[in-house]
Amino acid sequence: MQQANFVGWKSRWTFILAATGSAVGLGNIWKFPYITGEYGGGAFVLVYLACILLVGIPVMMAEISIGRFGRTDPIHSTVRGAQDAKTTTAWSLIGFMGVLAGLMILMFYSVVAGWALDYVWQSATGAYSNLQATAIEENFEALASDNTRQLAWHTLFIILTGSVVAVGVIRGIGTVVDVLMPLLFVLLLVLLGYSWANGDFEAGLNFMFRFDFSKLTAEAVLTALGHAFFTLSLGMGAIMAYGAYMPENSSVAKTTLVIALLDTVIALVAGMAIFPLVFANGLEAGQGAGLMFATLPVAFSSMPGGVIFSTIFFLLVSIAALSSSISLIEPGVAWLERQGVQRVWSALVFSLIGWAGGAACIYLPGVFDSLDFATTNIMLPLGGLLIAIFVGWIMRRNTVRKQLRDTGELMFNSWYVVTRFIAPAGVIAVFLYQLGLLQKLGWI
Ligand code: PHE
Repeated sequence: MQQANFVGWKSRWTFILAATGSAVGLGNIWKFPYITGEYGGGAFVLVYLACILLVGIPVMMAEISIGRFGRTDPIHSTVRGAQDAKTTTAWSLIGFMGVLAGLMILMFYSVVAGWALDYVWQSATGAYSNLQATAIEENFEALASDNTRQLAWHTLFIILTGSVVAVGVIRGIGTVVDVLMPLLFVLLLVLLGYSWANGDFEAGLNFMFRFDFSKLTAEAVLTALGHAFFTLSLGMGAIMAYGAYMPENSSVAKTTLVIALLDTVIALVAGMAIFPLVFANGLEAGQGAGLMFATLPVAFSSMPGGVIFSTIFFLLVSIAALSSSISLIEPGVAWLERQGVQRVWSALVFSLIGWAGGAACIYLPGVFDSLDFATTNIMLPLGGLLIAIFVGWIMRRNTVRKQLRDTGELMFNSWYVVTRFIAPAGVIAVFLYQLGLLQKLGWI
């Protein structure tokens, strides 16, 4: 095991910080509000919360358990789990698919992180100060149609990601995360306060929490499920890779609950900061991927100290994105490291592939959305499904029980039932629903 790269990984907090750093990112602040806007709000949010509870949390416990049992990279950890159960090691497919999914996510993730970096610069130079909401929207459009500018920031972000991974995740970022993440949360609360005072808070709340099920299409349900995986970094081995370094004496269940709660609260706060601004300024909730960049600057441009505040905010968003992006390639890098490839080289190779894919997202129409759809809506739920089946049906019950030894009998049994039946059935049902099969079978 290459534990040396995880200097300081000993304490329970380090795992929580790294895993939270992975979970909290653009998924919460950029993606959650924008897809909530696209799928019409309330009902979508409710389905998303149900997915977190019934699928996300149990699968996260399953992923950490595999990782901590195997104590190595996701591919080898699944192999160990399979060997322990005396069954085929083909289950390592979970790990391989995860490595691929991580790379594919990195490709579009880095482009959006590049936008955040661009906004650090724009904020610091006051590029959008005192502009009207419509001009601020056009300001984002200008960035989204300037390929060279996007490529430059994307390149910078990939370099940052590759460098941190090359150094080793914890040495690279551990110390930064524990101070900056809480600060990001505080700034989000300030934004929430601003929206409450100056935005149309009621309309925002109504939009997010009034459950209108007529808006719920099959694709919305699939997107909500996919986003539950995306936002918790599940289904591709990131949390499994980190779980390999979790101390024996910390609680898988409690830790999972803390991470899921923090992640969900941050997403909801981001949404509640953004939507009141949308409605107060006559903007479009379903405008798509530019939502955060077209709304928050409206608040920044008119608040006192907005230049400094917004610069710090976008910097923190970029750092949150960085602590997530490193976990996208960590499973693959850790795997190659075990094969004898030096960390620096594998980090370089993964970065180059991610960079090329990001360039494709910028220059070729449709690539960004296809990568997002294929990973979030297909590969992550599929990975999660396989993980739930692997832990629920393939691994020895005793082995799994040992990972969750601090959980009471009732809690463990409930989790085990959910992991064996409910989570897999939920994912399969959503897949069938999307394919229109449930209707054809006459089930709904
Ligand atoms: N969870 C991260 C976010 O919300 C993205 C991510 C997905 C990271 C999958 C790792 C694995 O921004």
